[in-house]
Amino acid sequence: MAETILVERERRVAILTVNRPDKLNALNEQVRVDMLAALAEIETDDSVGVVVITGAGEKSFIAGADIGEFEGRSPFDQRHAMRSPRIFDIMSSFPKPVIAMINGFCLGGGCELALSCDIRIASEKAQFGQPEINLGIIPGGGGTQRLSRLVGTGHAMRLILSGDRIPAAEAKEIGLVEIVVPAEELRAKTLELANRIASKSPLTLKIAKEAVRASQKMTVEEGVTYERDLFCLCFSSADKEEGVKAFLEKRQPQWTGR
Ligand code: COA
Repeated sequence: MAETILVERERRVAILTVNRPDKLNALNEQVRVDMLAALAEIETDDSVGVVVITGAGEKSFIAGADIGEFEGRSPFDQRHAMRSPRIFDIMSSFPKPVIAMINGFCLGGGCELALSCDIRIASEKAQFGQPEINLGIIPGGGGTQRLSRLVGTGHAMRLILSGDRIPAAEAKEIGLVEIVVPAEELRAKTLELANRIASKSPLTLKIAKEAVRASQKMTVEEGVTYERDLFCLCFSSADKEEGVKAFLEKRQPQWTGR
């Protein structure tokens, strides 16, 4: 059987490709298991600075959960399929930056996976949507929560209640993706950004991510206080000394991640 997750390396960037192109890379149990295993390995691999996630083939990023698994399934079986750890939660709390490279259909659980990433870059040909309503269900991978936080309640309601698909340009307009590029430039542009991020101090990236993520959980006052504490924590690192020294000496910093 073909591997459901392909892992490639490009310098300090790991590219994870969901590899079920004949099913538009729909997320089934095997994909979940394999993706969790791949992420667990990457998390402890110091040679990886940034993760990129994408879908195999020209047509689709991820077209959602595998609908074939839903038929006749009991709530208990579905609850088991949605047991922790869940890929959406692992992705959204991953200590390294995660970029969704969206090459086509980005629907249902695929859109929710993209929402769990830190940055979304899409091809002009990509399409976005939460079509669960058409199956008599609702988003179950965090879509009702993360989509509304990213694009606002009104746009989240529109997408979730109508099940409509929107093109990449519109997704960018409402803030569902950060960058849209021509399809043929998607990989190069994504890797350019990923490598640029991966060239920063891994320790500082982790702290920066934690500070921004905290904004989803705290009031502004709490968050600003937390940010101040994390900012001061940076002053305990060798990388802060190196970064400041390198600037003053007009040279590139040599990060050690310590
Ligand atoms: N789960 C399982 N299989 C899926 C799938 C999904 N979410 N999305 C696509 N597939 C399968 C199709 O069944 C088809 O398989 P087959 O060739 O064995 O029949 C194959 O992928 C190609 O899809 P197809 O529907 O023929 O492509 P299309 O270009 O005509 O349509 C979509 C593309 C994305 C519009 C359509 O596949 C679709 O609506 N998919 C479901 C999206 C969805 O509801 N996701 C949320 C799930 S909770």
